[in-house]
Amino acid sequence: MSEISNLCDVIIFGGHGDLAFRKLMPALYHLCNDGYINEHSRIFSTTRAAITQEEHLELVKTKLKEFLAQGQFDEAKFENFKARLHLVKVDLGNVESYEELSHLLGENPQRERISYLSTSPDFFGAICKALSVWRLVTPQSRVVLEKPIGRDLVSSRAINVEVLKYFEESQVYRIDHYLGKDTVQNIMALRFSNRIFTPLWDASNIDHVEITVSESVGVEGRWGYYDEYGAMRDMIQNHLMQLLCLIAMEPPCSLDADSVRDEKVKVLKSLRPMSAADIQQKTVRAQYTKGSSNGQIVPGYKEGEGVANSTTETYAAVRVDIDNWRWNGVPFYLRSGKRLRNRNSEIIIQFKSIPYSIFANKGSCISQNKLVISLQPRESIQLKLMNKIPGLSEQMRLQQVDLELNSPTNEERKPEAYERLMLDVIRSNPTLFMRLDEVEAAWKWADIILQGWAENIVPMKSYSAGTDGPTAAVELIARDGRSWHDE
Ligand code: BG6
Repeated sequence: MSEISNLCDVIIFGGHGDLAFRKLMPALYHLCNDGYINEHSRIFSTTRAAITQEEHLELVKTKLKEFLAQGQFDEAKFENFKARLHLVKVDLGNVESYEELSHLLGENPQRERISYLSTSPDFFGAICKALSVWRLVTPQSRVVLEKPIGRDLVSSRAINVEVLKYFEESQVYRIDHYLGKDTVQNIMALRFSNRIFTPLWDASNIDHVEITVSESVGVEGRWGYYDEYGAMRDMIQNHLMQLLCLIAMEPPCSLDADSVRDEKVKVLKSLRPMSAADIQQKTVRAQYTKGSSNGQIVPGYKEGEGVANSTTETYAAVRVDIDNWRWNGVPFYLRSGKRLRNRNSEIIIQFKSIPYSIFANKGSCISQNKLVISLQPRESIQLKLMNKIPGLSEQMRLQQVDLELNSPTNEERKPEAYERLMLDVIRSNPTLFMRLDEVEAAWKWADIILQGWAENIVPMKSYSAGTDGPTAAVELIARDGRSWHDE
């Protein structure tokens, strides 16, 4: 039997936006139906649209049918869920318009309040201010900020300063949904509950690390947003950086939020800032052109809505160096892009070669050991090891085999990242959320590259939609005598 949470009011600002329908409502639907949310809790969706409560419920239903995984929509469960759904009209930038919300929330002033800001970051300050003006910020309130928090260090600071005028840092939950993925959390379990990896996890044994998040989808109608941000701001500065931190951090002294976040910040502060020459050598930016994806001809990025002259990258690759004792000399190669051949996210820990091969002269090829952590489409962890090919051949022949480290699960359904994170906000557990100093340290590093790109010191490359990305990314790693793990 699942726990029942405290009574709470969840307010989704941007309640009719893409993220709200695609991720937040499905997460809340499952949490309610699996008994994690108290049945008297309420979920408010804010919108400016002239729409009635009945129309809102119909819309949520249609979207749940669209975005829940196959077979997960159930009429009876929806009836149960819908009893908690409320529509409230709010014009985000207009304080006066929060009156109705204030009245509704004021009915139960003692409740825990979770304001989920699923809007453009331009509204974060205004929403927090309005909540404060209407006295809706109580010690039991929490605010969830969706990424991206700003476009650079300066704008991110400005947003955080605004939010922190009305909320304490301990009440602010900066979400990075990659941290809610089960396999991502498993990185900590793998590293810190197994003795076997401890002595190997450093520059003496690891050759390099690769982090890839490749998407086959394009911008999916989010042109206005995406064109302002691009792959570096949308993916690398946050999701890939968080993955890098979990791989690179020292063991925290406990699992409490600040101990984990302290260790992640140390990694971010150790990232080697790039010189102009480094930016030219170690970064790649590219934009996709017309191509074919899943057997369909798809247009190039610049053929999207209002982006004909865009210089926004849809692909970024970068070599990251970490200046500390553990990682000195171990490059981390990061890459992420849209409209690529496959949807594939994985982390590769590539170990060094054995010091000397007694097999080499006998026609056997020894591949380096690799730990392959796959996040999607399939979640799995494999350790690639050498093994003897069974048989009587005179010379010992070897092959690489996979040791699969997959946990058996009793759950019928794997919870989505947003479910885990939403529940953590309800439980007041900020471990999987980013602290202010983490966000700032990541921007500080990314800003230098973005500035170099803005000055055009790295040419924009192109790649055809549906391919593996620009050849410049292959050259980036090849320059160091290495190649991407592409299986
Ligand atoms: C979001 C980005 O944060 O993550 C999107 O804004 C991206 O552009 C998405 O598509 C990828 O998430 P996932 O979980 O599908 O890998």
